[in-house]
Amino acid sequence: MSPGFTSQMARNIFYGGTLFFALLFAVLIFDTESRIPARSNVAELTPAVVRGKHLWETRNCIGCHTLLGEGAYFAPELGNVYKRRGPDFIKAWIKTQPTKIPGRRQMPQFDFSEAQLDDLVEFLKWTNGVNTEKWPPNIEG
Ligand code: HEC
Repeated sequence: MSPGFTSQMARNIFYGGTLFFALLFAVLIFDTESRIPARSNVAELTPAVVRGKHLWETRNCIGCHTLLGEGAYFAPELGNVYKRRGPDFIKAWIKTQPTKIPGRRQMPQFDFSEAQLDDLVEFLKWTNGVNTEKWPPNIEG
């Protein structure tokens, strides 16, 4: 340490640096929080979407599937399944499980009503609208 560097200076750097980065952290938190409503499509959170999410949680879809990368890796990612397959495919698919095709992983039959299937589709449509910064990189990803 050079003789000109006093413990007073060290203390000032410590407190000044701590204050600067604490304030920077607060600004970044505020910035992130203020962007969430636009990024998460909160305006499109209809009651049907909420009902669909409830089905998603109570039937443990996440126990096999990932949604926007979170969940289990047994079955395909469903964050973009609305764009990838479309609403009619999703409903028909869920209705016709399990496929019982030998060698393929199986999905259970949930015996959903038509209204419940519509709610699930609404939830998957909403999820598909979340801004994920172009993730996954390709449609089948
Ligand atoms: C026990 C595991 C399991 C659970 C629980 C499960 N799935 Fe699946 N799901 C699968 C498997 C495995 C596949 C792929 C099967 C195949 O390709 O033959 C699949 C495929 C799908 C597909 C088609 C995906 C695509 O890319 O074509 C949709 C849509 C789907 N599941 C929706 C759901 C929903 C909604 C729930 C909850 C209500 C759910 N799954 C619960 C195992 C599961």
